[in-house]
Amino acid sequence: MGKAIALNQDTFWVGAVDWNARYFHGAVLSTHRGTTYNSYLLRDQKTALIDTVYPPFADDLVQKIKSLIRPEELDYLVINHVEIDHSGSFPVIRELCPRARVVCTQRGYEGLQGYFGGGFEPLIVKTGDTISLGRRTLQFIEAPMLHWPDSMFTYVPEDSLLLPNDAFGQHIATASRFDDEVDMAEVMQEAAKYYANILMPFGSLVSRKLAEINKLGLSIKMIAPSHGIIWRGQPERIVEAYARWAEGLGRPLAVVAYDTMWQSTERMAMALLDGLEAGGVEAKLYKLSSSDRNDVIAAILEARAVLIGSPTINNDILPTVSPLLDDLMGLRPRNKLGMGFGSYGWGGGAQQVIEERLKAAKFEVIEPGITAKWRPTAEDAQRCFERGREVAERIKQ
Ligand code: FEO
Repeated sequence: MGKAIALNQDTFWVGAVDWNARYFHGAVLSTHRGTTYNSYLLRDQKTALIDTVYPPFADDLVQKIKSLIRPEELDYLVINHVEIDHSGSFPVIRELCPRARVVCTQRGYEGLQGYFGGGFEPLIVKTGDTISLGRRTLQFIEAPMLHWPDSMFTYVPEDSLLLPNDAFGQHIATASRFDDEVDMAEVMQEAAKYYANILMPFGSLVSRKLAEINKLGLSIKMIAPSHGIIWRGQPERIVEAYARWAEGLGRPLAVVAYDTMWQSTERMAMALLDGLEAGGVEAKLYKLSSSDRNDVIAAILEARAVLIGSPTINNDILPTVSPLLDDLMGLRPRNKLGMGFGSYGWGGGAQQVIEERLKAAKFEVIEPGITAKWRPTAEDAQRCFERGREVAERIKQ
């Protein structure tokens, strides 16, 4: 359960830590380190609750609110985003805090009605709208498609505090709430995985939103997202990472992702890896039947080139390789090189299938990829090695 944690003398984290979450969005996203549902209470001449929590944790939220205020006196319930991990306790809070005025975007209102029915008159806000709490102000910034149409950020200028809901979040459960209290290597790994698997399709919108915040001249000293740790010590670190990720600016890294039936495609993958390494770039290799796809996608976020391999089966690729390509077609990573490779027996085709799907995902595809019949020969392995070196050179350019 834990207790409310102060961000400053009038602002408190009143969320919940879910140590045991291992999947999110149904079973679509793995969360090896658990997660948190962050909700924040501002206690001023007027009081405001920013977002709620996933319903199984509603009691955590209620107890923390009760430790700070009389709930029936809550003035505003701000819903930055309607997805259930944040709005799921909306009915509980409405019952507990009947006079709280709901504050949301127009689309947020549509979502709330869709999930919970009507019967309330929200205060619909747009970018630039403000609410005075007394000493503090809530300023709203619409953030459509970051990552839902309803999403918005709340900003408190007096504290230079940004409450951006999902943006800048990470799925990680920690006993401490702030970035200067935890292992930042773990946090950045989870922030990258979160961005890669949730926000990657919206890179151009992320770039524009960061530019808009710059233009608005908002000073940001603390970022309190709706998942994971609160950026207090180094808020610029996550903003800089988002700017880089949004532009698709990976580091000199290649990802080799493949699956294999009788180790022929695997031998090709290993030779490609050796070539990449000999060419002087960092390379990571994932056998897809034994790798977590969300972790592979997180690696791809930072990569400049992605080499995908499958043997041919039924004129197609292995069903263990297909989901990664499906995901990439939806996630549309920016500025990536791609290549297909694979072995075949009686008839080929997998490499072309991979190339077509990489093109559909907007990769710059290196064609033709590499194929080998039956067991790769020493010459085939050498071709793969040389191709790895060539890709390394492309990456370094
Ligand atoms: Fe954390 Fe879009 O929900």
